[in-house]
Amino acid sequence: MRNKVTKAIFPVAGLGTRFLPATKSVPKEIMTLVDRPLIQYAIDEARAAGIKEFIFVTSRGKGALEDYFDHSPQLENELRKKGKDDLLEILKSTNMDSGAIAYMRQHKALGLGHAVWCARRLIGNEPFAVILPDDVIAAEKPCLQQMVEAYEETGGNMVAAMEVPPEKASSYGVLDVQEDMGSMVSVKGMVEKPAPGTEPSNLAVIGRYILSPYVLKNLNKIKSGAGGEIQLTDAIAQEIGSDRGVYGYRFRGQRFDCGSKSGFLQATVAFGLSRDDLRDDLHGYLTGIMAAERAAQ
Ligand code: G1P
Repeated sequence: MRNKVTKAIFPVAGLGTRFLPATKSVPKEIMTLVDRPLIQYAIDEARAAGIKEFIFVTSRGKGALEDYFDHSPQLENELRKKGKDDLLEILKSTNMDSGAIAYMRQHKALGLGHAVWCARRLIGNEPFAVILPDDVIAAEKPCLQQMVEAYEETGGNMVAAMEVPPEKASSYGVLDVQEDMGSMVSVKGMVEKPAPGTEPSNLAVIGRYILSPYVLKNLNKIKSGAGGEIQLTDAIAQEIGSDRGVYGYRFRGQRFDCGSKSGFLQATVAFGLSRDDLRDDLHGYLTGIMAAERAAQ
């Protein structure tokens, strides 16, 4: 029997400079897509995949993130008194069980690999998931759940993968494919942010991982890589050729890069249009401006 994946690491220590000045006082992960903070989408996806322990790797100035997961008795009482049961339900759905959340501080911004390594003692000797909340994935079956199901077959190490336009591949971790089995590929190499023109493919790593604890051991001794940072990709690449191996999983769903302003705006529109209470209004507005633009041409 394979060990179940019950722990997930959420690296949330980044400064979010691309969203300044907002991120001067609001952690990027608290920025809202429609009416839910980015981190809530990541948490919901993890829960759907069976994750029970949530480990946040944070940094200075992320207090609002910790507060977000606290119960808010005063607010709940107010809503109860006013009979606002629907809002109460929404609020309760964000509550986390006691002891389910741990915060680990990354003292220095040394890269994604380092952030994950900071959580090593909370992981121990089990497989674990990593979710990058900037990558928001809209899917009928949540992406990590798809991966957990696939992982039950393969074990080893699995990264979410997606074909990106070739000229964009150098912004990602990129897979060198050994065998392409459709939704699953086995990997013979992976490289973080390859120099343009040297990409082994345009199959990019997206921010969902299921990793063996050996990756944490690899991180113990890894040197800084692309961008002078300790890269998770490099520690995973060291697993290639081991008994465990590395697989890429082409998930079904639409990924939004909420680490960029344009991606965040696109996600806002897409998630807005998927909501029964907003669709008509938003759709009317969008078709209106498009018609006006066409008329002006
Ligand atoms: C990180 C990973 C990269 C991956 C990307 C997906 O990069 O290092 O391998 O392709 O997330 O979003 P970042 O976007 O943090 O530079």
